[in-house]
Order: sequence, then C-alpha cells, then structure tokens
Amino acid sequence: MRVLVTGGAGYIGSHTVRALIIAGHDPIVVDNLICGHADVITKIFRIPLIVSNIGNKKLLEEVINGKHDLLKGTVHENKIIEAVLHFAAFAYVGESIKNPIKYYSNNVQESISLLESICSPEIRSQRVNNSSIPIVFSSSCATYGVPSRNPISEENSQKPISPYGKSKLMVEEIIKDLAKSANLKSVILRYFNAAGAAEDSLIGEKHIPETHLIPLVINTAIGLNRELTIFGDDFNTPDGTCIRDYIHVVDLADAHVLALDLFVENSKINNKLNTFKNKENCNIYNLGNGKGVSVLEIIKIVEIITKKKVTYKVSERREGDPPLLIASAEKFIRDFEWKPKYTNIEEMIFHAYKWATKSI
Ligand SMILES: NC(=O)c1ccc[n+]([C@@H]2O[C@H](COP(=O)([O-])OP(=O)(O)OC[C@H]3O[C@@H](n4cnc5c(N)ncnc54)[C@H](O)[C@@H]3O)[C@@H](O)[C@H]2O)c1
Repeated sequence: MRVLVTGGAGYIGSHTVRALIIAGHDPIVVDNLICGHADVITKIFRIPLIVSNIGNKKLLEEVINGKHDLLKGTVHENKIIEAVLHFAAFAYVGESIKNPIKYYSNNVQESISLLESICSPEIRSQRVNNSSIPIVFSSSCATYGVPSRNPISEENSQKPISPYGKSKLMVEEIIKDLAKSANLKSVILRYFNAAGAAEDSLIGEKHIPETHLIPLVINTAIGLNRELTIFGDDFNTPDGTCIRDYIHVVDLADAHVLALDLFVENSKINNKLNTFKNKENCNIYNLGNGKGVSVLEIIKIVEIITKKKVTYKVSERREGDPPLLIASAEKFIRDFEWKPKYTNIEEMIFHAYKWATKSI
C-alpha cells in the first residue's frame, strides 16, 4: 500500500517506516524536520522525504494525488496515497502548558488541514464508496488526564489536563465527526510511553531537547548530562514517584502495520471484525503493556545495565503529570492477535542504551 507517513522522520514515525518497508508497503514521508531527522529517511531507508508542514495544503494535495514533482529525478514513482499514518505533532506536555497556542496550531490546525485534504470531495469522488483516504492517528494516554481507574481501557473518560492532551482529544473528535460526514475510516491509537530503539541500533530516539525519561536517565548515567531531575517524589504511589506504562517502539511500529490491514477490503482482520461493514468507521485502541514502572525503578534498571550511578535531584511536581498511567491494551491484543515482542522494561532500556552509546 502507498502510505503517507506524516512526521515519519521522528522517533515513532521512523520505526514505523522501517516496519512498513519490511511488511512490503510503500511509504512516503512528509516532515518539516523541526524534530525529525532527514538522514534516517533519505540515507538509511532511501525512501521519499518531502520537507514540509502538513498544513501546506497545496503541496499535500499534490502528494496525495501522486502529482507532486518533488521526486523528479529519483527512482520513486508518483502514486496516489492509499492510507495515512499521522504522527506529525509536537509532543511535550510541559511545553504545551507554557505555550498552548503552539500546540493547538500545530497539532489541531495542521491536522485539520491534512484532514480537509484527505476528505476533499475531489479525493472522495475518485474512491470506492465515496470514501476519504483512511487514517491511523497517533493519539495519547494524555487524553485520559488523571484516570479514575487503572488499567485504563478505551472507555475510561477523557479529561486531559494539558493542552497537549487536549489537542490530541480535539483531533480524535474531528476524526469521529468525519467518520460520519465524509466516510472517513480511521484507527485511533492511544499510545502510552514509547521506549527503546531498534534491536540492531540502526535507528533510535533522538529528541532535541530530550524530555523523555529513559533517554534522560541513560544520558545522565553515561555522563552526557550532569544530573537528572525527578519531578515530585510525593505522589500516592509505592515509592512516591510517577508510574508509567512503557511500550517498545518496535512493537508500536508493528501495531501500525497491523492497523493498516483494517483498511484492506476482505483482509483477515477486516472480515473478522466486520467493523466497516457495520459502518463503525472509527476504531479506537490503547497501546501499552499493562505494566507500571516508577521513575525510581527506571533509574535502578539503568544503573544495573550501565553499571554507572545516576545522580539526581528531586524538585517540585510538574503540572500535567498524572501519578499513575497504566494501559489496558486487551482490545488491540484480542482484535489483532497482537503479540508484542519486547514486553520487558529491561530489554527496552537495554536497546535504548545500546542506541545511545552506539556513536560514543
Ligand atoms: N513518544 C511517545 O511516548 C508518545 C506517546 C503518545 C503519543 N505520541 C504521539 O506520537 C507521535 C509521534 O511521537 P514521537 O515521539 O515520534 O515525536 P517526534 O517529535 O519524534 O516526531 C514527530 C515528528 O513530526 C514532525 N512534525 C511535527 N509537526 C509537524 C508538522 N506540522 N508538519 C510536518 N511535520 C511535523 C517533527 O519534525 C517530527 O519528526 C506524536 O503525534 C505524539 O503526540 C507519542
């Protein structure tokens, strides 16, 4: 399938691009490179990268229709896009609290523009059943806010406590409306915390600035950072620090490839669920491992793996941080017969460590 991957030069997007290629799909990436890495797409995977905002409607429509000429002179064919994996977004909770407009304009406004393009009357008139181009949307456990119960199932109420979480929920709602008005088929994946790197260390996580806990702890252990800050050790959890559910980025990537099968007429999963025939155009799934790990536990594991001490200080709690977030991914496991490869946190941290020290 010709798949448009927005934000494909980022952390989860690039691992998904690799999974798509392995599965025989034909991805093309649009990324503005504000947080992404061009080399991964053009030099490692050697697939098309179009450097642009997803809100550039004219360009996006050319890409979707296979009419853009940015690939002239390359070996890649122009083809009409058959599905979209939509990763492009800003994803820092703390920054979203300080600068909400940045998040609403990038995550919501730019997504609206993308959705307008894939649901346009011109596109729909060329497709079976007047349907829009189907989309898999990267949503987040941040849409649940402080959950009333854990593990969190898809039915838990969504009361996000940060503009980031709200921006993701807004896009979910828009997609649900378009399911009805524009025959938009979609899969909304609410990820918990992505972690790890490719087992062979070909690609991994590189955010600038880094805010994710595991790379921050590793960077402190290996001396790239002087000291780690723990935001609050007085939460109502066994050791007082926040607990999160980590999912290996490669498992997350593979889950996207499985989700795409839902858009294939008469695929095994499509026949099994019969979802779209029942006109339920929007399918929502959590993706996590159902296991909680605290900040202090992560530090201990990193110390064991790296055989180095992690220096840390404890500061005030951060706004927007719920104490406990654990996923129930039972629905995805059941529907897709999903068997994640790396469910153990030590393995995720080991892969992240191997990646972090690869070029040192
Ligand atoms: N990392 C996690 O643990 C996690 C958890 C839940 C949800 N998510 C969601 O998954 C997606 C990917 O997360 P990630 O950690 O890989 O982030 P990332 O920052 O590594 O990747 C996002 C990519 O999108 C690009 N981008 C951002 N805005 C864009 C725009 N307007 N136009 C074009 N490109 C744009 C960036 O340059 C970057 O390459 C995001 O939507 C994020 O909200 C991530």
